[in-house]
Amino acid sequence: MSDYDLVIKGGTVVNASHTVKADVGVKDGRIVMLGESLSGGDRVIDASGRFVLPGGVDSHCHIEQPSSTGGKNAETFESGTRSAACGGTTSLICFSTQEKGEGIKHMVADYHKLAERGACIDYSFHMILNDPNDQVVNHDLPELIAAGHRSIKIFMTYSKNRVNDAEILRVLEVARRHGALVCVHAENHDAIMYMTDKLLAAGLDGTKYHSWCKPPVVEREAVQRVIALSEIMDQPIQIFHVTCKEAADEIRRAQQRGVKVFAETCAQYFVLTADHLDQDSKEGAKYLCSPAPRDPANQAALWDHVRSGTLDIITSDHAPYNMFSPDGKFWAGDNAPFSQIANGTPGLETRMPLVFSEGVVKGRISMEDFVALTSTNAAKLFGLHPKKGSISIGADADITIWDAERKVTISQDMLHHDTDYTPYEGMTVTGWAQTTISRGTVLWNDGEVTCEPGRGEFLARAPYDYIKPRGVFPTPFNPVEGKNLEDTGWTQSAEYAESDPI
Ligand code: URP
Ligand code: ZN
Ligand code: ZN
Repeated sequence: MSDYDLVIKGGTVVNASHTVKADVGVKDGRIVMLGESLSGGDRVIDASGRFVLPGGVDSHCHIEQPSSTGGKNAETFESGTRSAACGGTTSLICFSTQEKGEGIKHMVADYHKLAERGACIDYSFHMILNDPNDQVVNHDLPELIAAGHRSIKIFMTYSKNRVNDAEILRVLEVARRHGALVCVHAENHDAIMYMTDKLLAAGLDGTKYHSWCKPPVVEREAVQRVIALSEIMDQPIQIFHVTCKEAADEIRRAQQRGVKVFAETCAQYFVLTADHLDQDSKEGAKYLCSPAPRDPANQAALWDHVRSGTLDIITSDHAPYNMFSPDGKFWAGDNAPFSQIANGTPGLETRMPLVFSEGVVKGRISMEDFVALTSTNAAKLFGLHPKKGSISIGADADITIWDAERKVTISQDMLHHDTDYTPYEGMTVTGWAQTTISRGTVLWNDGEVTCEPGRGEFLARAPYDYIKPRGVFPTPFNPVEGKNLEDTGWTQSAEYAESDPI
């Protein structure tokens, strides 16, 4: 019997921290050996001239999830995870939801069933909360967090899901008490609604005006506000899908004074702009997502913030709605105004190629940065590292063999999702996954798909350092424990002792 089930030979292994020429030996789904000239192996894959990367970790994707903005999600776990694998991604974090007035345990249980049936790669969930009622806060969340659901998602906009500031504080408190990260869709809901009403009253209802109802200031205000709330509660947060300089600057400022605020952006914000929305709505709807795509100046600023580490994860925010079915983008009718078109773009399969092509090929980031941004940093922030996001002894054999030379003109018919379009039709990228391996099993190799629905496993997450609070409050009062710390040697942290420049 061979020492290895699989040996990947002759490739260049790239981790977020370093690059080395090495063969990789895999046994029982894990990486057991890295070395020169490994021999044996029941199966050998030649990776000469290729990069051998930790499989991608996409920590923000909507799959088989009730929509926030109407319409039906076009993807199932089977199709979504298949297309992720064909683009080099081996772990996903998607979303269970809540019905207002109810608890969340049954929703999480139902979502588990969907994933168990369909997923071909490993997955975890963020729990969407739109109503932090007593049942959720006192019973469901403590139990679910302890069971490994260590992230909560809140929306500051969308009528169906938005939470107000008091509710945000309640969510932050329960997350801090039980050890979970809070992820935030940060846009000012009332401002969006006000602007939407005014635009529609003025007869401006095309997709172009989606970006007018939610300009960068709407994002910046909400980002600044939720960071402030997280400071009051001393609770780490992650800002989802940062699109613009103004919002990223706010995050940077908070990070510089020590606040544990993390932030992602998404592949689409590097290639789509508001101009894509400025066409007939039947076409513009393909690019309609929230926050809205911006402009080249903001794209350049996003790259700056990626390079300086403000934004350390690039996800897909895969939110798939069909263009050509009545329950898709145009669920409210063919002539729906921008405010009633489903928000979101599909992108699980194209995420890594877009980031590689725009980032590494165009000299904006290094190969190691690419790995960090598309895999390792998400694995770390969400408590999956080093099992995921790393080519190291003992890690899961989640491996993507990357062909850095391959030129691909993206088209709907070459993709493996179930959405009926791609926003990147006709765009040529350089770099694509040649082979994708999940826990030692090949799912995608040289154009052949061998995904088996249901083989994916749930990734329960134990407590981990990133979500630990700092123990820094703006006053001597710890609101989570209801304690006055004045007589316990408490001293004012420098970040609050000095006058804040806001
Ligand atoms: O347009 C988007 N991003 N739709 C998905 C829901 C979300 O997270 O905003
Ligand atoms: Zn969002
Ligand atoms: Zn999203």
